[in-house]
Amino acid sequence: MRIDIITLFPEIALAPLSESIMRRAREAGLVEVHAHQLRDWATGKHRKTDEYLCGGGQGMLLKPEPIFAAVEELRGDDTQVLLMTPQGIPFKQQHAQELADSAHLIILCGHYEGVDHRVIEELVDREISIGDYVLTNGAIAAAVVTDAIVRLIPGALGDARSPEDESFTDPNMLEAPAYTKPNDFRGMKVPDVLLSGDHGKIAAWKKNKALQRTRKNRPDLLD
Ligand code: ADE
Repeated sequence: MRIDIITLFPEIALAPLSESIMRRAREAGLVEVHAHQLRDWATGKHRKTDEYLCGGGQGMLLKPEPIFAAVEELRGDDTQVLLMTPQGIPFKQQHAQELADSAHLIILCGHYEGVDHRVIEELVDREISIGDYVLTNGAIAAAVVTDAIVRLIPGALGDARSPEDESFTDPNMLEAPAYTKPNDFRGMKVPDVLLSGDHGKIAAWKKNKALQRTRKNRPDLLD
């Protein structure tokens, strides 16, 4: 897989993808990630990437020309173009799974009030939001989405770990609480059932606790 992130802040997009599991996945050749400076496609003396809103309104918008030039240069036959925007579809594990076997993704990052709508109409396959809040720029969101996708590429998590058992693989259920050693920490004990070795009982306990946790933290998932 290849991922090209187009942003005014390539360092912000790349920093979280340069450590730990993401760094190893890139070094192992499971994914090639490039972060590009949008300004490199801007023309004119000042390489301007933003403009005032047509029709008035506060703030600035990313101009279409540099974005069109960047996408037209980078895209191939098998490319999907994503736009990071709070106006997008809320990003879910299911979307990460759908995108994990893509050959090539271009991720456009909004800034200021977003991008000229002609970009969305002509170039963008999916508008993605990572949550109902507004970030200062989409590079942070691009790193989040890239991480969620890349960790699902077979081999990215290493042999010992599997994404199968975790929250949102069942999109309607959070994971059960988990414990490690010591069995007794300041009088707080690991539940006996987890030390019992009875796999049937442990599975039933986990299912029940997962349900309780989902009811408490994410009742919307159970509706
Ligand atoms: N850019 C700014 N806020 C965002 C969000 N919530 N999701 C995706 N991109 C964004």
